[in-house]
Amino acid sequence: MTTIKDTKQEIQFRFPKGFWWGSATSATQIEGAAREGGKGLNIWDYWYEKEPNRFFNGIGPDKTSDFYHRYKEDIRLMKETGHNSFRFSISWSRMIPDGSGEINQEAVNFYNNVINELLANEIEPFVNLFHFDMPLAMQKIGGWENRDVTDAYARYAKICFELFGDRVKKWFTHNEPIVPVEGGYLYDFHYPNVVDFQRAVQVAYHTVIAHAKAVREFKKLDIQDGKIGIILNLTPSYPRSSHPADLKASHIADLFFNRSFLDPAVKGEYPQDLIDLLKEHGYLPAVAEGDRALIKQNTVDLLGINYYQPRRVKAKENMPNPDAPLMPERFFDPYVMPGRKMNPHRGWEIYEKGIYDILINVKENYGNIECFISENGMGVEGEERFRDEKGMIRDDYRIEFIREHLKWVHQAIQEGVNVKGYHLWTFMDNWSWTNAYKNRYGFVSVNLDKDGERTVKKSGYWFKTVAENNGF
Ligand code: NOJ
Repeated sequence: MTTIKDTKQEIQFRFPKGFWWGSATSATQIEGAAREGGKGLNIWDYWYEKEPNRFFNGIGPDKTSDFYHRYKEDIRLMKETGHNSFRFSISWSRMIPDGSGEINQEAVNFYNNVINELLANEIEPFVNLFHFDMPLAMQKIGGWENRDVTDAYARYAKICFELFGDRVKKWFTHNEPIVPVEGGYLYDFHYPNVVDFQRAVQVAYHTVIAHAKAVREFKKLDIQDGKIGIILNLTPSYPRSSHPADLKASHIADLFFNRSFLDPAVKGEYPQDLIDLLKEHGYLPAVAEGDRALIKQNTVDLLGINYYQPRRVKAKENMPNPDAPLMPERFFDPYVMPGRKMNPHRGWEIYEKGIYDILINVKENYGNIECFISENGMGVEGEERFRDEKGMIRDDYRIEFIREHLKWVHQAIQEGVNVKGYHLWTFMDNWSWTNAYKNRYGFVSVNLDKDGERTVKKSGYWFKTVAENNGF
């Protein structure tokens, strides 16, 4: 086994004892076996069947990294890359094929096997319940637009807590819940490809209700040492200048894209400014009696933070037609900061200090809730060109990316932020929705031309050293 180790090297950035080192994945992106093991269809299986051309190189969720069959080999590689923790998601449509009916025993067996294998390798399972993968039967009755779906989801959550909660102690209700709102109801990159702000608001609201109901189920059960959380992509919003119009634009972007989930999940209430804004434009969602208390009483214990890039905005330059349907962009324009650093392999800005700004915000404005970096990572197109003669992808750019972000996480810890771990997106190259396998993010490469052959990248071995030394 190769390790990149220099024991003489001084540890300059030491992390607190027990820091969670690992990576994150999701069911639809890694499992494959989309029509095996009694799984029901979800919206991705369905959309791919209908419109395969919407997916990069025509690759769909049936051809992913095949974790369903190869989980033992993969967990061995997690060990080899220093993981002490690992996030995966349970596929709702695998567990309950029609979303609200019978439990699929083959799914229970599969997830039991995965959990037991992780524990046998001293890797703590972190389990998320909803990662963009609405069961088709639930979507057919309206998905998150239909309030009944929030009850079906809460039942599914309860079933998972009861079946696996004896061994799984870190639970998450949703991953990046804003993304299905944006993708499915505003910008047309998820099924059902609707573009309608009013419906988007309702979907976002019901997702919060579903989340609160799942937290309520969790709290009713006695899962010893168990924590319930949510995973949010927090994208710090930076204004072009301190001009009031730029500040306002940035504030509104923050309300829509961060605080619409962060505030209800952690504080148990929506920001008043967001309510006022929606009210002013006539877009408040339909609510039910008791919702306010439901949200208030069911805040999370643990916050997962996904961070990739900042959002830079400026005041709108040309006022849009006031009669046009409302879209978040009505309130701000994107701003390209001169001299910004870019990921040369994928058009995203790299701004490492953003991770620190988020953490300080969580400390100062969200009660310093226990949190961890649940995703951070670098997508790279055409990564094969970095493979050396020995067959290893030398992804030094990824090592630098992780290291520079970790320095800021370390700084936040020095300043008292309650941050407990760092998970990379992702463990092995995986299927990334409509981008399929275009951008590679993993510690481990997956060669689709060679039957999914796995090889650990240089970053994977580097990470092992970091995890073993608890610093670098
Ligand atoms: C966030 C999501 O959780 C994940 O599903 C996605 O593939 C990565 N970011 C990369 O874009």
